[in-house]
Amino acid sequence: MRWLITGGCGFIGTSLIAALEAEGNHAIRVIDNLTVGSAAALAGVGSVHRLDAATLRPLGRGGNAGVELVVGDILDAGLLIRAAAGADVLVHLAASTGVQQSLDDPMSDCRANVEGTLNALLAARTARVERFVFASSGAPLGAADPPIHERLAARPMSPYGASKLAGEGYCSAFAHGFGLATVALRFSNVYGPRSSHKGSVVAKFVRRALAAEPLELFGDGGQTRDFIYIDDLVRAIRLAATVPGIAGELFQIATSRETSVGELADTLVPILRDAGVTNVAVRHAPPLAGEMRRNFADTTKARDRLGWSAEVGLAEGLRRTVRWYLDRPAG
Ligand SMILES: NC(=O)c1ccc[n+]([C@@H]2O[C@H](COP(=O)([O-])OP(=O)(O)OC[C@H]3O[C@@H](n4cnc5c(N)ncnc54)[C@H](O)[C@@H]3O)[C@@H](O)[C@H]2O)c1
Repeated sequence: MRWLITGGCGFIGTSLIAALEAEGNHAIRVIDNLTVGSAAALAGVGSVHRLDAATLRPLGRGGNAGVELVVGDILDAGLLIRAAAGADVLVHLAASTGVQQSLDDPMSDCRANVEGTLNALLAARTARVERFVFASSGAPLGAADPPIHERLAARPMSPYGASKLAGEGYCSAFAHGFGLATVALRFSNVYGPRSSHKGSVVAKFVRRALAAEPLELFGDGGQTRDFIYIDDLVRAIRLAATVPGIAGELFQIATSRETSVGELADTLVPILRDAGVTNVAVRHAPPLAGEMRRNFADTTKARDRLGWSAEVGLAEGLRRTVRWYLDRPAG
């Protein structure tokens, strides 16, 4: 298959590309503005051919010919249209990903996540792709009582949640209005290898432990999240790109397990110790204002319609993550 992956130099993008490269027989093109991800991160999962944005040709059936990288912005609608030509699947990952960032600058968040997603959908429609997969999040649901699921009314509590909700709305509109086979996936808290630049709690904990700094629990550490290992998430994206009969649908992609941040630390510390990272301290810090107390998702719909459920347990996922952080080249 021929894939265009926006934001393909980031955490989830490079992990998806590593899985596709391992399968073989895919032609892969990435468009990324390199504000967060890097060409070096992409090169870590396959050979990279940087394309000149001015002379783009339609994506051909390559098959192990390496990953094509177009350095450019999803706000450049014309470039996205040219980059998508020839693609069978468009996976739209590029986004402004921070909740705090969206509170600081709602307009930039809106441009990247609403206008950028609309540009990606227009490019997908022009290219007549067979499937458009959109990376959404639990944020559109705000502080809904868990387990969260697809039938709950959305009530975002941040501009990031609002912009992801708008993206879901446009996916639905393009499915019904233009017959474009869109699928929106609401990822829970993703962790795993290739996440070293992320601000999520697992990435922060591992980074701090390796820097001999204490892990910080805000308040009593009893706030809960649904931590999903990257390989499970990539498998969900892979299925969303191909499973028939799901055009226009929305899925929660999570483990359905509620884990407190305190439990996360309790699971992680012995794993770090077994890997040779000893004397990891845990310290309590004042509660964060406005932090959500509980969050996890019901993934029944993904199981029934996508044939997907998470398989990697937290301890195993953390072991693999710690191993990656320890083995990765310095720098
Ligand atoms: N990681 C998670 O836990 C999580 C949870 C829910 C949803 N998501 C969503 O999944 C997607 C991927 O997340 P990630 O964790 O890989 O993030 P990431 O920041 O690692 O990757 C995003 C990539 O997009 C690129 N990018 C950003 N703005 C761009 C623009 N305007 N034009 C072109 N490229 C741009 C960045 O350079 C980066 O390489 C995002 O849409 C994010 O909102 C992630």
